[in-house]
Amino acid sequence: MRVTMLDLPRQLAALAPALRAAFERVLADGRFVGGPEVARFEQRVAARLSVPHALGVSSGSDALVVALSALDVGAGHEVLTSAYSFVATAESILRVGARPVFVDLPPDGFNLDAAAALAALTPRTRALLPVHLFGEPCALQALLDAAERAGAVVVEDCAQAFGATLGARAVGTLGAAGAFSFFPAKVLGGFGDGGLVTTASLSTATRVRALRQHGRTGPERYEAAGGNYRLDALQAALLDVALEHVDGFIAARRQSAREYAQALAGLGGLVVPPPSEGHVFGCFTLRVLDGRRDALARHLSERGVETAVYYPTPLPLQPLFAALGHRAGEFPNAERAAGEALSLPVHPALTASERGRVLDAVLEFFRSR
Ligand SMILES: Cc1ncc(COP(=O)(O)O)c(C=O)c1O
Repeated sequence: MRVTMLDLPRQLAALAPALRAAFERVLADGRFVGGPEVARFEQRVAARLSVPHALGVSSGSDALVVALSALDVGAGHEVLTSAYSFVATAESILRVGARPVFVDLPPDGFNLDAAAALAALTPRTRALLPVHLFGEPCALQALLDAAERAGAVVVEDCAQAFGATLGARAVGTLGAAGAFSFFPAKVLGGFGDGGLVTTASLSTATRVRALRQHGRTGPERYEAAGGNYRLDALQAALLDVALEHVDGFIAARRQSAREYAQALAGLGGLVVPPPSEGHVFGCFTLRVLDGRRDALARHLSERGVETAVYYPTPLPLQPLFAALGHRAGEFPNAERAAGEALSLPVHPALTASERGRVLDAVLEFFRSR
């Protein structure tokens, strides 16, 4: 049996009766788009995150677009974001007609370098779009302060970081808006695609509500070009069941991360993610030094352990952003991360014996060379 990156049937087995009951409820109700299931999930998820407004949308990618649009980010604006993330982060900036301005990582982390972000601010900067990558909260305070001084807004990409915290606050509640993904592999995974926009501002929430439904502001009244970015009722009902279990999922991820970090600490040739209080370990991502990342991945695969490389190409070097004219060498820390990052299985259903197999295989690799 392979140790896999994800095992949703196992992770969700205990939830099956409640999920079936939710499905039956939606089937009997017949309101498959919008309606009480979406409203109830929105209330519960807002309470879980302690945020005044939580609006369900069609995906994490659309959550970013709707959040930026609701905050009037668009043509002529620059948006600062990390050079190292999933493509949807920076793609959302293009989708609203603005210009991504990429910011490198610090030498030792996976989240954008706050000092580099401040240095990249210009009078055209309308928004900052930091990412809490791999579930690790990024240092937001300097960005929030700078944004305020510059008259810009902060939109947090929380796609991988449901439940992560900075101090006592959940990520997604500190900026002008937060964008979450319910893609099944995420910390709070759904049963298909889904997403969420969080905000403390009533006016932003009102705009998000309109934009997710073609800019609708009243019966047969449309004021802005939004889209069909709604969350399905069935998705909301099923997510509501998963939400009840999310704290257990996070605790299991943290347990695996703790064991990995302890067992691998001090091993030459490897950097483990440093302990970080509010981290939810959407991924447990090592840095494998000395150009040996792919060799370690192969070694693990041969021993039945899956791994994943997020992300082999920094965003500025993706063809999608070619018009910005970036060249290799401009974002050295992101480029190094892209060559060193290797994620180990950390899903909530992982057993102690599976963790042991992962660790044995990693330790064997480093001891044998
Ligand atoms: C950092 C980040 N941003 C945005 C997204 C987009 O979310 P979705 O897949 O729900 O559209 C993802 C999903 O993988 C992500 O990891």
